[in-house]
Amino acid sequence: MSLAPIHIAEIKSAALLAIEGAQDLDSLKNVKIAHVGDRSPIAKVNQMLSQIPIEERAALGKLIGSTRADINQAHDDRERKLKAERNSISLIKERVDVSISPRRISQGALHPLTQIRHEIEDLFTGIGYEVVEGPELESGWLNFDALNIPADHPARTMQDTFFIEPLHSDLVLRTQTSPVQIRTMLERKPPIFVICPGRTFRSDALDATHSPVFNQVEGLVVDKGITMADLKGTLSLFAERIFGENVKTRIRPSYFPFTEPSAEVDFFYNGRWIEWGGCGMVNPKVLRVCGIDPDTYSGFAFGMGLERTLMVRHGITDMHDIVEGDVRFSRGFGSGIR
Ligand code: DAH
Repeated sequence: MSLAPIHIAEIKSAALLAIEGAQDLDSLKNVKIAHVGDRSPIAKVNQMLSQIPIEERAALGKLIGSTRADINQAHDDRERKLKAERNSISLIKERVDVSISPRRISQGALHPLTQIRHEIEDLFTGIGYEVVEGPELESGWLNFDALNIPADHPARTMQDTFFIEPLHSDLVLRTQTSPVQIRTMLERKPPIFVICPGRTFRSDALDATHSPVFNQVEGLVVDKGITMADLKGTLSLFAERIFGENVKTRIRPSYFPFTEPSAEVDFFYNGRWIEWGGCGMVNPKVLRVCGIDPDTYSGFAFGMGLERTLMVRHGITDMHDIVEGDVRFSRGFGSGIR
């Protein structure tokens, strides 16, 4: 190795060439070891300085020093440039598109009929009632006879009722929730305060206002000194909680075999009277069948359709919307999309 200035210039141009030729940071690291580090040619000529005559040392030292500085500078510049390139490449490669739409998840919700049923249950349990249930496959005796619906009553003809074969089994799909009144009175002693929501069945065709499967809620109260005023007050509260504070109710004389007297209950809503359900004082005959003394106890009962209640409250005009289970219908009642 010589210390001739020409040689130093060669070292420099070889180093600069290698530095410029490094295409990435890894190869630049190797170039650094070969041309910049302690064992590089420029470092070696620097070490040789001590061996040369003192008069030449200063000028040569200066040349080597500035060459070294130039090589270092070239290396640092190249390194900065390669790092900047690497960063901008990873910015492009690792880009996350935060504007993309998230996956939409449907949030489930209860069917509107179930929602209104829960509202009614909450209202009545809040004033001390219990919620009771009975079977959908019911005995004819409980669905009719015990309720004072005699064998020749129109409700017992094949038109209304789904009878179960063999016919002598005396099983029907219950046509009303009223048999649960009988079950309750046979099982408990007064005071009785219950409501019974549930599915009921009649052989009607499905159309805008009818469904062969529908829901009712039955109410039954039996205690000492129960009067029609209690019935009227209970129905007013029921209507106010379901249709709004200012709704008015009225009862009109009617006939049901299991109540005496019997009435039809209407409520005034959006400027007109709307029929809501049946009600009355429990017929003493029915109390007696259930082993309750009508001279000591009296009671009232009522029964309404849940579909009708829901339809009036929400302006639903077609029963199909309620029974078909299309999620677009339920969505309007709180089943959303997140
Ligand atoms: N069960 C009757 C029906 O389905 C409705 C009804 C009327 C229920 C009068 C009652 C009542 O409890 O007292 O048409």
